[in-house]
Amino acid sequence: MKNDSEKLVEAALAAREKAFAPFSGFKVGAALQTESGKIFTGCNIENASYGLTLCAERVAIFKAVSEGERDFTNLAVVADTDSLTPPCGACRQIIWEFCGDAEIILSNLDGKVEVMKMKELLPRAFDAKFLE
Ligand code: THU
Repeated sequence: MKNDSEKLVEAALAAREKAFAPFSGFKVGAALQTESGKIFTGCNIENASYGLTLCAERVAIFKAVSEGERDFTNLAVVADTDSLTPPCGACRQIIWEFCGDAEIILSNLDGKVEVMKMKELLPRAFDAKFLE
């Protein structure tokens, strides 16, 4: 039996295959799990203007939010690097605002896995609480 983290990494690996990354050649997959157990996936989608590129993590989150989901538990990110690829700074902010202190699972094509919490990746985060 596979546990939730394994299933999430598997979904992120499959999503990575769909990456549109002709400019960097760097393919990333992400998979996001909701409180109710649903999984939403994303891949990076590059653009010739470069700056309009979307990371895999944000694609997964925006897909889920656009389907009405708001409660997330964990997010897997997969890339083909020995030192596991963490979410970029922009994604960390978006992950924090939609997923809070969620569990982040990093993995690669060799099956190496590291698990961490968002607070470790983005300490003292800015969010909507400061706007109250
Ligand atoms: N990328 C992601 O999709 N997620 C990350 O966590 C890091 C970077 C993408 C953006 C771009 O398409 C490529 O990887 C190289 O930066």
